[in-house]
Amino acid sequence: MPITTCIFDAYGTLFDVSSAARRAAGEPGRDALAGVWQKLAGDWRLKQLQYTWLRTITQEHTDFWVVTQDALDWAMEAAGLDDPELRERLLALYWELAAYPEAPAMLARLKAAGMTCAILSNGAPAMLEGAVDSAGLEIYLDGVLSVERVGLFKPHKSVYDLVGAEFHCTPDQVLFVSSNGWDAAGSAGYGFNTVWVNRAGDPVDRLAHRPQHILPDLTTLPELAASL
Ligand code: LAC
Repeated sequence: MPITTCIFDAYGTLFDVSSAARRAAGEPGRDALAGVWQKLAGDWRLKQLQYTWLRTITQEHTDFWVVTQDALDWAMEAAGLDDPELRERLLALYWELAAYPEAPAMLARLKAAGMTCAILSNGAPAMLEGAVDSAGLEIYLDGVLSVERVGLFKPHKSVYDLVGAEFHCTPDQVLFVSSNGWDAAGSAGYGFNTVWVNRAGDPVDRLAHRPQHILPDLTTLPELAASL
């Protein structure tokens, strides 16, 4: 069945989650961060994701903003950074993450081809609105769906159910796009056509399902969507 609906993961897929630590490290007076920002960014993201999975398994949901702060606190301590002002700066930057450079033109091409385009993200609604507005992506999006509608994080099936409920499409009409291997696996298992955006050239995750398509970035997504 032809694709009618392209659904994007947000953090790491449309928005560069490393850009908060990278931007802060480039600011004057940030010498302590400058040497460790890559480790900080990696730990921050890894802990953030681990906490989402664990809170879903243990049925102790809290929203992604709380999880993001908890993960940053862990990552700052691991990096030997005890600096409340830096903490506030990094959190503020998370609300205005850079979009990957090819994202706006790619979305514009999907919209010109008549696709419904939306985000499905772990992010809390206000965080997602901040990031979408700051990157100027709202003009391309038909919706921004947050897991807060179901109170569980991806890859729980209830989260993927939000797409059909919102856009009245079947899973085989959906192209689901994520840079997270586990999210691509989960969405493939759900029945979506999936694209794993593998910017780092990582090995494919050994999970129960594999993405049908792998791209190095978002540039050729419109061609792929049109070909299915
Ligand atoms: C999201 C996280 C998983 O946007 O990147 O849902």
